[in-house]
Amino acid sequence: MNKGLPGHVAENRRYWDEMADEWVERGEIAWAREEPAWGRWHVPEAEIAMLPGDMTGLDAVELGCGTGYVSAWMVRRGASVSAIDNSNRQLATARRLAAEHDIEVDFRHGNAESLPWPDDSFDFAVSEYGASIWCEPSAWLAEAHRVLRPGGVLAFLGNHPMAACCTPPDGSDVLTSLQHPWFELGRFDWTEVEDDPGGIEFCPSISGWVKLFREIGFLIDDFREPRAPASSKGTEFNVSADWARRWPSEYVWKLHRR
Ligand SMILES: C[S@@+](CC[C@H](N)C(=O)[O-])C[C@H]1O[C@@H](n2cnc3c(N)ncnc32)[C@H](O)[C@@H]1O
Repeated sequence: MNKGLPGHVAENRRYWDEMADEWVERGEIAWAREEPAWGRWHVPEAEIAMLPGDMTGLDAVELGCGTGYVSAWMVRRGASVSAIDNSNRQLATARRLAAEHDIEVDFRHGNAESLPWPDDSFDFAVSEYGASIWCEPSAWLAEAHRVLRPGGVLAFLGNHPMAACCTPPDGSDVLTSLQHPWFELGRFDWTEVEDDPGGIEFCPSISGWVKLFREIGFLIDDFREPRAPASSKGTEFNVSADWARRWPSEYVWKLHRR
């Protein structure tokens, strides 16, 4: 079933299918939210405006939708929504929650580096820690560009390279010292580490992203580095709230197709 998938996509499918049960509760909470809140620190939509306020009549797609709550938020704003995820087990949760909330999303199982939709299908594309970190950047960006209509918007959120550079090679919690060379940012293979082994992620540098946007045909509308809210506590996915109050743990890109 995984035949023909690139190695990182096959590994990430295995990893996410294995972990899907641990993401059910988080998905249920996010589906129940009235207002979107993003990333590790649940930064309010009002602060980073990931989604158009009114999505009535828009065709939208979520790339790496997991349990599908971002898709639900877009349907509630009036969009007609399609979504893809590489893990059938994550999609099982998404489909169950969609039925429970009486929300219609066209969920597909597949790889966001090779999308099942024709050219020029969507007005808006989004990824929160989905394709934005688990897919090879030039591959998923080229596909997002292909399925967006000219002028269509892509908004995505992922790990900030500052956090990636402060993560020790064993994948444990971020430190306040540099652990990884900035000029070797790119592919992070966590399959052999001691701390929560599994998965292959991507985190280019900022200039690396900008080069790809230019080559693929995206223009930049906005770039944000959300700060953890003052109320944040504890450690979320290897970053402590204290760290993320001092340095950016996440970034948001907003682009449109030329
Ligand atoms: C952290 S979840 C993102 C969904 C949600 N926004 C969240 O933060 O829970 C990551 C998702 O990306 C999916 N994913 C990983 N590689 C993918 C690929 N090549 N194509 C589509 N989805 C992928 C995983 O299966 C997983 O469900």
